[in-house]
Amino acid sequence: MRLLFLGDMVGKTGRTAVWEKLPGLISDLKLDFVIVNGENAAGGFGITEDIFLETINAGADVVTTGNHVWDQKEAVSFCQRHDQFLRPANYPAGTPGRGSNLYFARNGARVLVANVMGRVFMHPELDDPFKAAESILAACPLKEQADAIIFDFHAEATSEKQCFGHFVDGRASFVVGTHTHVPTADADPQWRHGLYVGCRHVRRLRLVARHGKGRTSQPLHLQDAQGPLLRPPRGLQPSAASASKFPIAPDWPRTSRR
Ligand SMILES: [Fe+2]
Ligand SMILES: [Fe+2]
Repeated sequence: MRLLFLGDMVGKTGRTAVWEKLPGLISDLKLDFVIVNGENAAGGFGITEDIFLETINAGADVVTTGNHVWDQKEAVSFCQRHDQFLRPANYPAGTPGRGSNLYFARNGARVLVANVMGRVFMHPELDDPFKAAESILAACPLKEQADAIIFDFHAEATSEKQCFGHFVDGRASFVVGTHTHVPTADADPQWRHGLYVGCRHVRRLRLVARHGKGRTSQPLHLQDAQGPLLRPPRGLQPSAASASKFPIAPDWPRTSRR
């Protein structure tokens, strides 16, 4: 399946570019599915129904949002009329609209799209995004009820995005980070299944995501690293003392990707 994710689409410049270029991209690249994050499409704050509909007319299959979803007051009502409009799934129960939905791509694939918002440095602070994702995945497991599962994880901190990527690793097809308007775009090919795009690779965060504060809100007492030193700082060789304490893995520098 050929997927295009665009975001955030910001203001007149962003939406004009998307509306002009998207139809051609869909045909030239033979795209099966297109997602656009449009939380700041209306003058940089929120999104109107007209802008949402124009984006859908240009070829988007889903428009996701984030913390600015309600900046244009009409969003509170029009979000309930359109299945292709998503707001973060971890807004409190009773919030208008929906946070995830199952769609059919142009190639017939069943695509679950979920919009989830982080809590680190974010306002408003919503319900637990990890718990929300767990519910979404339980209701529509990959390969059983969906051929692809895509998360728009709308958050500020790259560490929280990385945690989330590890948390759903193996259970989702693609996690992409939005909100910051500055793409780090450093895809992580070490993700076991699917693709993660959003921030730098930090191996330890896999442990934090599975056992730590991100899930339980409890303090996590980290221990010193154990095992071989996989990636010395670029241009540096470890001293004899540190080399004996943290021996370089035999496959280094093959693991040095940057
Ligand atoms: Fe944004
Ligand atoms: Fe945002």
